[in-house]
Amino acid sequence: MAYSQILGTGSYLPEKILTNADLEKIVDTSTEWIVERTGIHQRHIAAEHETALTMAEKAAKQAMSDANITANDIGMIIIATTTPEKMFPSTACLLQQRLGISGCPAFDLNSTACAGFMYALSIADLYVKQGIIKNALVIGSEVMSRVVDWSDRATCILFGDGAGAVIIGASQQPGILSTHLHADGTHKDVLSLTVSIGKPMDVEEALYIKMTGNQLFKLAVNILGDLFDETLEANSLTKADIDWLVPHQANIRIIQAMAKKLNLPLDRVAITLEDQGNTSSASIPLALDKAIRDGRIKRGEMLLLEGFGGGLAWGSALIRY
Ligand code: ACO
Repeated sequence: MAYSQILGTGSYLPEKILTNADLEKIVDTSTEWIVERTGIHQRHIAAEHETALTMAEKAAKQAMSDANITANDIGMIIIATTTPEKMFPSTACLLQQRLGISGCPAFDLNSTACAGFMYALSIADLYVKQGIIKNALVIGSEVMSRVVDWSDRATCILFGDGAGAVIIGASQQPGILSTHLHADGTHKDVLSLTVSIGKPMDVEEALYIKMTGNQLFKLAVNILGDLFDETLEANSLTKADIDWLVPHQANIRIIQAMAKKLNLPLDRVAITLEDQGNTSSASIPLALDKAIRDGRIKRGEMLLLEGFGGGLAWGSALIRY
């Protein structure tokens, strides 16, 4: 079996910024509450003409340029998004057409929420490692601002829009060492975004994120702790071998707990939450791209990526970058 590696990364954030002070004018909240409970200071909000597709395209082109490949070199496109352009054709097919290519498999992962990027990365990794394809374009792209209830202060303060992309390609050296995916439907009610198909939609229930935040918080901390142990054990490594944690950006207090679990100082954690909020499946590739582009993450370092979200669904990847 061959190896797979991250060959390039890219990202896109909408120009418009919504600060906590702006939110104080929309719902009964305060900058102090939001910063203390979440760590978020601002988030990017898509313009009317922007969608998961347009943002994915921008992030993808940057990643392709970074990896020094052309669209014709891409053997698979996966877009993790809970806010797709359409139910079908997939956002990935629409992107494929925009990139001027055809033939390679292209599909969306719609329902794995904030864990979506980990699921997408895992699938791409296996296809590359098996030698079935040479390069995959893996994207997380979200317009969360269109599925939050702007009158619900418990959720509307959390989310932001954006897209992150990576090119995974065949490599001579070990890169992605292992990926680990899990789900547990017994916690289906703690986080949901209901779009009923095949039966009349309850307008009250539909189209907005519903979340029992404090319950989810506890589940995330416990589940992610176990996931780290599993990931390290599978590779016969210890916490001391990890150079960087690249987590899903849901809450600074969850991220702090995870850094503590790994004995990592916070400056060894790729954090974008302050400026970007929770961009669901886009948050991990956005954080990865930022830390690589500004020179913090360097080739040869050991990265632990983790995602956790509705389903529940969660996953990790250990990568020798
Ligand atoms: N401003 C002011 N007060 C607020 C706000 C707000 N924006 N939102 C809630 N409150 C109030 C509540 O009404 C409650 O008041 P009460 O005590 O009078 O009833 C109080 O603050 C405490 O509410 P909690 O929900 O218990 O607050 P908590 O400290 O748990 O923070 C938060 C909430 C930030 C949502 C946190 O629970 C969290 O981050 N949870 C995890 C989220 C997560 O991991 N999501 C997974 C991925 S997302 C995905 O998959 C799409």
